[in-house]
Formats: sequence, structure tokens, C-alpha cells
Amino acid sequence: MEKVRVAVAGRIATITLANPPVNALGAELRGGLLSALNEAADDRKVRVIVIAADGRTWPAGADIREFGKPPVAPLLPELCDAIAACPKPVIAAMHGTALGGGLELALAAHVRVAEAGTQIGLPEVTLGILPGAGGTQRLPRLVGAGQALGMMLSGLPIGAARAAELGLVDVVADGSAQPAAVQLAAAFVAREAKLPSAADRTDHRADPAAWLNAVAEARAGLGTARRLPAPPRIIDCVEAALLLPEGEGFAFERAAFEDLVASPEAAAMRHAFLAERRAARQPDLVGVAPRAVSHVGVVGGGLMGSGITTALLSAGFSVTMVERDTAALSAGLARVATSHERAVASGRLSEEAREAEWARVGGTTEMAALAQADLVIEAVTEDEAVKAAVFAELDQIARQGAILATNTSYLDVDRIAAATTRPDDVIGLHFFSPAHVMKLVEVVVGDRTAPDVTATAFALAKRMGKIAVRAGVCDGFIGNRILTAYRTATDFLLEDGASPYDIDRAMVAWGFPKGPYQVLDMAGLDISWARRKRLAATRDPARRYVAIGDRLCEAGRFGQKSGRGYYLYDEGARTGREDPDVLAMIAAEREARGIVARPVHAAEVQRRVLAAMANEGARILGEGIAQRPSDIDLVMMLGYGFPRWRGGPMQAADTAGLLTLRDDLRDYAREEAVFWQPAPLWDDLIKNGRKFADMNED
Ligand code: 3HC
Repeated sequence: MEKVRVAVAGRIATITLANPPVNALGAELRGGLLSALNEAADDRKVRVIVIAADGRTWPAGADIREFGKPPVAPLLPELCDAIAACPKPVIAAMHGTALGGGLELALAAHVRVAEAGTQIGLPEVTLGILPGAGGTQRLPRLVGAGQALGMMLSGLPIGAARAAELGLVDVVADGSAQPAAVQLAAAFVAREAKLPSAADRTDHRADPAAWLNAVAEARAGLGTARRLPAPPRIIDCVEAALLLPEGEGFAFERAAFEDLVASPEAAAMRHAFLAERRAARQPDLVGVAPRAVSHVGVVGGGLMGSGITTALLSAGFSVTMVERDTAALSAGLARVATSHERAVASGRLSEEAREAEWARVGGTTEMAALAQADLVIEAVTEDEAVKAAVFAELDQIARQGAILATNTSYLDVDRIAAATTRPDDVIGLHFFSPAHVMKLVEVVVGDRTAPDVTATAFALAKRMGKIAVRAGVCDGFIGNRILTAYRTATDFLLEDGASPYDIDRAMVAWGFPKGPYQVLDMAGLDISWARRKRLAATRDPARRYVAIGDRLCEAGRFGQKSGRGYYLYDEGARTGREDPDVLAMIAAEREARGIVARPVHAAEVQRRVLAAMANEGARILGEGIAQRPSDIDLVMMLGYGFPRWRGGPMQAADTAGLLTLRDDLRDYAREEAVFWQPAPLWDDLIKNGRKFADMNED
């Protein structure tokens, strides 16, 4: 199919872009558009040129898949320059999502028309780059430096009406953008004058003090974004748009774009973007229709159950919450009401929408109320016997064809399924807390889970606005298994000589929002203690075991909730203080094991943690628990605070170099052979000159 079509009617040429699904501005589309533009510019009959797009959207950006490959002419900046310099007025007729390079194309045009529902933005910062086709130069000239910086630093889109208020859009069309643009073009046909392009606007540049103030404010407000390469460069470019002569401003932007696009941070963020879309691809489910779901039962109204209920309600499902007694039920429903209240107070939910959601939730202490549910999600306490009892009861009650899901975060889904007479209908849906906020769901597919049950889980997650990652059955699935490896590596270092505070600082410096011991204190040390006790009987005796966490729990230190864990907490405080008693307990434990403390530097902590996580990831891949390395990366980025700009442990391992990490693992394995044993996948990849990324089929 032709990617660019031209139709001339009277004195108006309409160029239509057709590159589904999102009209990404790949090389072929750029080439086609430039030829069509030149042709229309040379056609003496044509007075005005309209550019419109077929399908669901105006171009949503440059083609992300081209980044990191040799550039193919014409480049997007050249195309935008050609539009801006066109001797005939060019009108952009936008609909859908006018994002990134797509918006830059429209910014180069002389007039912008947008359909009422159009979302307009420059999300490049979320990909670790900046608008590289004139966006940093043209947008501030049109809307002012402050507004432009707000859009470019947040990456968030604005609606057409707001864009019109700001002067970014000239006309908001009542109906479709293209006929409105053609109508407008007819008015220009009569005029001879060349229209100014965005770069010719002088109104905002006439107030340099306001411009420079906006730049200074943006610099001062960067916060943690300061450590990323793109945000400061965006600000520099906006400053250059005022201070440099026009041509130089564009060249300054281009140089910054080229630096950024080649950076490891941008590669990681691109990887994250593509990983989010790849996770939904399930080759074995092609053509498998999901089951219909409208009424969902949630068993358990604790933190997880109420979060899941809130998330289901906002996705339009009817929900029945079941708790064992009325006190627990009211507490569960109260938690849902509180999240609703917060959403209304912050403007995320209207009063009417809240009423509508509340009308779809019911609560009961009778499991029998779930007889007609299409799906039941169990979110009771993390104890296999308790969960099995719930499933046995559900088996008696639920209608034939209903899906029975467990929200377990570690337990064996096959064993839970065996408590029913219908294991084909059982699946794991591991939501993350708070479930109405966190985007990740691990879909745990058991040995007997029916394909249409898995397909339903993916459809459900999509409808809830979440990203589903498929996992197989094992202790902890993908995320918690890697978390355990992370903690094992840091516990070894703790016993070897590091303090928990050194380790936390090292990991925060590496990019995690919190260190592992801060997170343990928040979650409650008793939870992992109970798990260690559960697994004690099956633990490999040859494996090094660090008992410092157990000692803390034995001393009643359960973390924030008990006022002391690895840190000390003042009444009501969420940030803890370092505690010499903990250091003394660690020293005593070292002494008991005959370990002489050695200095451990931050770089060693970071290196060992990455090796441990990637090695566990390689094992998970080898066992078929995850389908692809990018799924592992997604779980860690979306569920465990792994910095997006490092792209997840498998991407970070590729960046660090597989040979280096495998050699590190071999060295560490000389100290402890079980945990640090390199997974066989390292050698397979290295031997064949491959990386983890090469296993992500596209
Ligand atoms: N380049 C290449 N492919 C893209 C793309 C892009 N810019 N945007 C989307 N796609 C692909 C997706 O990978 C997906 O492919 P798949 O079907 O093979 O998995 C397909 O298009 C559909 O995308 P979504 O599943 O995301 O569809 P949605 O309807 O949920 O969302 C969207 C549509 C809001 C446009 C969303 O895709 C999006 O946010 N895209 C990225 C927008 C963006 O970041 N643009 C800036 C690019 S950088 C740039 O322009 C640099 C310039 O300044 C030089």
C-alpha cells in the first residue's frame, strides 16, 4: 500500500499519510512526504497544501525502531525544514495522538487544525531523548518557554482545547480534521501572502526576561531528573532558542539529540517502551478468544483485595468483595472508599464517576454470593493451606466456566489448582501493592491452565490499563525470585563487612528509589522471615545462609511497623535512622561465623547485585519461567523500582557486557559455589556472540 497519497482538488493539494498503526515517521513515509510536498509546491495549480493522516492517528512520532541504526535520508529535521520553508501555506490536520516527531511536523506547518479529541505532546523525554526535529525551537516560540518546558520535561500530552488556548493549535475542528483543514485552505486560496511559520513568531521572544526566568526555574526544579542526560539538555535547547540565532538553535538541538539518542540511557528507555508492547505477544494464544468477564468476585478485603477491587471498579467491572466477618468487610470497603475519596480530591475522578463505581460494588460474608461471578480473584493471607481451602470452597460454588485466580506472590499455583476439580480454570494473577496504582500483573500459568483462561487474564489486564507479563510456576515466579537473589547478594555483603546503610546508599546511587534494607523495613521483616522458615526444610545445605535477618526478627525488630528494623523509626516517621545496635548485631553474627569484616565499596555492591539479578534471570529463562529477557526487565522496572533508564537487569547485563559479568560470577563462585554458579545460558550466549536482547523476538 502507498504510504503517501496526493489528491489535488481545485487549488488545494491534500497529502494523506498512511503508515499503520500509528503513522510513525519511518524512512519510507518521510521520503514519500517530501516528494509529495515538493510536487505540490511545484504544481502551479496548487495554492495551499493540507497534510492529513489516515487511520487512527496523526503521526505519533519518529519510528522508534530506527533509533540506534544508521540514519536514512531524508531526516525528519530536513522534512520539517522543507515544510516550514514551503512557499505555499501548509496546513496540518491532526487527529488521534500528535506526538513527538509527529507534533514537530505539525509545528513546522503554517497552520494547525486539530480534532477535538486530539492528544498533543512531546514525550521524547520518556525515551531518554529530546525533540530532535525543531520541537525545542519552534514550540517555545509558539507557546512561550514556560509552557514548552512543562510539556517537554513531563512528556505529558495536552488536549486540543488546551493547545488552542496556548496558541499551539489554530483551529479545533468540530468534526474531522481533514475537511475542516480543506475548508480553511479554501480561505487561503484567495490570498497571495506567504504565512509565517512557527520559527518566525517573535511574540514570546520579545520578553527575554520571562523566557530566561522559565529556563532558570526549570533548572532549579529538575530534582532527581538531573541525573538523567535528557532533561538538562532540553532546558539548554530552550535557552538556545532565545539566545542563539535561529539556524544555530536548530543545529544546537540536533547535536544534543544525536548525543542523547546514542546514550545507554536512551537505549534502555527504548527497550522499556518496546518491552511493554512485546509482553502482550503470546504466539500460542493467537486466535484464542478470551472468556467474557463482567462480574468479578474478590475474596479478601485486605490491602491487596481492596486495591484490586478499586482497580476493577475503575475499569468498569462489577465487583463483589467477600470477607470472613462484617468487621473485616467494612474495613475492606472503607479502604476502597478512601481511595475513591483521594481520587476525587485530586481531580482524577469526578463525583459522578465515583457514584457510578460505588454502585457497582457489593460486599458480603457469604462465599455463595459468588455463584454467578465470571472470575473470582482470591487475595487472602499468603498461606497455602488457607488458599487451598478457599479454592476448594469456590469449586463448590462457582458456576461452570468461571475463572478462579489466586493473587499469591510465591506459592505453587498448580498445588492450589489441585484443591479444585477444575484446574483448567485456575490461574495466578499476581498484582502488586497498591494494586490500583501499580501497572504490573504477573500472569502465572499453571500446568493445566486452559489457553482461553490465559487469554482472558491478558484481556483483563489490558482493560485495567495494566501490563501483564506471563510467568511459569515456581517459588516467587519472576519478580520475587529475582528479588530473593538481590537480597541474598546484599546479605552476603552485609556479613562480609558492609553495613545495611552502605548497601542502601550504593543502590540508591545506582538508581533505585530505595535501598533493599529500607524496602525490607517498609514491607515488614517478619514476612520474609516466615518465608525463610517455610523453605528451611528444602534449602540446599551447601548454600551459604546469612541469618542476620532472622536475628533481627528474633529481637522483635520487624521494620517500620514495630518502630525498628534495620533502621530506627521515631513515632510515625517513615524514614529511619541508622542504628548502632544493628551494627553490633551484625558484628556479633560475623564473629560467630569467624568472618573478619572487609571493606566493601559501593561499586562492588552494585556489581554483585547486577550479577546476582541477571544470573537469576538467566536461570528463569533457562527453566522457561519467563518467555523472554525483556519480560524479566519489565517485571523488575514496573514492580520493583529497577531504574527505567537502565532498562531492567537483562538489558543492564547486556550493557555491562556478558563476558565481564560471567567472569565476575565465576570469581564469586569460588567463594560460594551454589548461589553464584553461572547459569548455563551465559556460556550459550557468549559462545554464539549473542546478547540477552537477541532473545527478544520482534
Ligand atoms: N515508532 C515505532 N513504533 C511505534 C511508535 C513509534 N513512535 N509508536 C507506537 N508504535 C508501535 C507500537 O510498538 C505497537 O507495535 P506492536 O503492535 O508491534 O506492538 C503499535 O505501534 C501500537 O502501539 P500501542 O500498542 O502503544 O498502541 P496504543 O493505541 O496503546 O498507543 C500511542 C498509541 C499513544 C501512539 C503509543 O503507541 C505511544 O505513546 N507511542 C510513542 C509515542 C512517542 O514516544 N513518540 C515520540 C517518538 S520519538 C520522536 O518522535 C523523536 C523526534 O523528536 C525526532
